[in-house]
Amino acid sequence: MRIIVTEDYQSMSRKAAMMVAGQISLKPDSVLGLATGSTPIGLYQELIKMYQAGDLDFSKVRTFNLDEYYNLSADDPQSYHYFMYDNLFNHINMKPENVSILDGMASDFDRECREYEKAIRDCGGIDLQILGIGVNGHIGFNEPDSALNVYTALVDLTDDTINANSRFFDSPDLVPRKALSVGMGVILRARRIILLASGENKAEAIRETVSGLVTTNTPSSFLQLHPDVNLIIDKAAASLLDGELIRSV
Ligand code: F6R
Repeated sequence: MRIIVTEDYQSMSRKAAMMVAGQISLKPDSVLGLATGSTPIGLYQELIKMYQAGDLDFSKVRTFNLDEYYNLSADDPQSYHYFMYDNLFNHINMKPENVSILDGMASDFDRECREYEKAIRDCGGIDLQILGIGVNGHIGFNEPDSALNVYTALVDLTDDTINANSRFFDSPDLVPRKALSVGMGVILRARRIILLASGENKAEAIRETVSGLVTTNTPSSFLQLHPDVNLIIDKAAASLLDGELIRSV
């Protein structure tokens, strides 16, 4: 694991954008795995700036998002579809046909999940996966449990996640209790992973990710088994890591 500690959220976002830009410049038809939530918003803003400056071309890029809430339509402002268009796709030259996001309103969820995985395989797999992390160590919506999904599935959200995400809704009762999420297999098959984290409330999850036991109670700890993971985290999120560790991993 490569651990890059930045001064603050902005420099975390800039560093991550440089890595994503490097990926797209070297391979214009890159397949990106994308995350939603507060953490990657700064990264997406930086990518938009690079596109507007003429430094980045998304016309051949293919994207797959990690997850989508159950039973929210694409035009619902709380859906991850809406989030992605609002925060990124509406501002760059991505081709709509190159964007894939799980359909939270699918009539047959098993089929939706199977076809999503097949579409990822058919494009040759994910070159670069962007991840945020839950306070409970979830990645995508792979929640801590006695076992984890390898495959993409409809999953129950934990109370921790429902509480954390209630900040985006008018009331906690409105937060969907379920979501479609890619499985751990999709994440761990990505050739390269960037995990972003900012703020003290992520420090414990980051410590467990880096130096905890690999356990289904902390899904992000499985990233220790991946050969190319880059943690780009701000000082606050790194505050529980010891310096020795940062240098030695
Ligand atoms: C979002 C996702 C989640 C978030 C995580 C952190 O697509 O898969 O795992 O990355 O919940 O969310 P924020 O960034 O809002 O703290």
